[in-house]
Amino acid sequence: MKIILGITGGVAAYKAAELARLMVKEGIGVEVVMTEAATRFVTPLTLQSLTGKPARTNQWDDMAHIDLSRGADAILIAPATADFISKLAQGQASDLLSSLCLARDCPLLIAPAMNRQMWNNPATCRNIELILSDGIHMIGPESGIQACGEEGMGRMTEPAEILLALNSFLSPKALSGKKFLVTAGPTMEAIDPVRVITNLSSGKMGYAVAQAALDAGAEVVLISGPTCLAPPAGAAFFNVRSASQMRDAVMEHVGQCDVFVSVAAVSDYQVANQSSAKIKKQDRLVLELEAGPDILREVAALANPPFCVGFAAETESLEKNARIKMEKKKLPMLVANLAQDALGSDMNEITIFGPDGMEKLPRSSKKALAGRLVEEIAKAIS
Ligand code: C5P
Repeated sequence: MKIILGITGGVAAYKAAELARLMVKEGIGVEVVMTEAATRFVTPLTLQSLTGKPARTNQWDDMAHIDLSRGADAILIAPATADFISKLAQGQASDLLSSLCLARDCPLLIAPAMNRQMWNNPATCRNIELILSDGIHMIGPESGIQACGEEGMGRMTEPAEILLALNSFLSPKALSGKKFLVTAGPTMEAIDPVRVITNLSSGKMGYAVAQAALDAGAEVVLISGPTCLAPPAGAAFFNVRSASQMRDAVMEHVGQCDVFVSVAAVSDYQVANQSSAKIKKQDRLVLELEAGPDILREVAALANPPFCVGFAAETESLEKNARIKMEKKKLPMLVANLAQDALGSDMNEITIFGPDGMEKLPRSSKKALAGRLVEEIAKAIS
């Protein structure tokens, strides 16, 4: 495998040396191209020593900007600074690395790294949106302590994780040609125009499942209740509020799908005595609740249902309740977790009940668990 490792000028450039070392260790042929600014943070000699090949920096050497990318499996830029991302967004070719990106005929992946305010700057947000819609792939960034001492979004993903993401990007896709429908987040049921009842759900697990399915090559429709999360690039995204709206959106798309993963915390009840005007404050207000649609049950009961995966957040007797739910909703697969382990957190602990029995996965990030779950789904439907 041949990868062009582009390094741009941010303090995280020192970690690119470690990334180059890990890549070489895996037998990847690494050609390093550095911007002038990158050479202020780490020397070309360091990269040459690690890869066994000169690190290129000069645009005027030869036709390197065309030749280098020919035969490469991908260009990976780590770190990618805010400045370099803006060059990519504009299609600039003002140095060897940006020329190479513009003249490439292979995929381009970037691992951004910058100060949190640079990351959140509207100009950077615009540029990121542009490059994603141009088909450039992004690894990270992560949230955490930054070199400047501030804490927030913009830390470069660790080298070992970048390499994992690169490998999974380049590996044959287990789910190409498959269509996933994923629901995520809570639903909100109106009491009156300004008040709702809802189930607690951040949407993080559902969005992670959608992302993992995309990473595995599936086409993804994500139907989400209100969350604070950015939808994964590449998914067809539909925002809904109530369980009924979610049900209608699901029914509209489910016919074309091979897999339905119902991660949403759908409200079981809706308010029967909903008021169209704001209810005045009073000492006691009695709400009458009636059962809303059970979306998953309805989908699983279709004449020709997709492969249905349910989620069960329990507070006790996890296994017993999970099995009852699987039986009641007629599901081939169910993911069970304890609500107290999962709610709002980036981490979770899940048990997958599937055709091959039960598998308990150790506590891990929701992203990693979603990846494992998608692997299990791919196995089950293959
Ligand atoms: O709420 P419950 O524990 O029954 O949720 C189990 C599964 O059923 C979840 O996958 C959830 O998305 C789905 N569900 C649904 N419609 C409901 C309630 C739950 O689709 N009204």
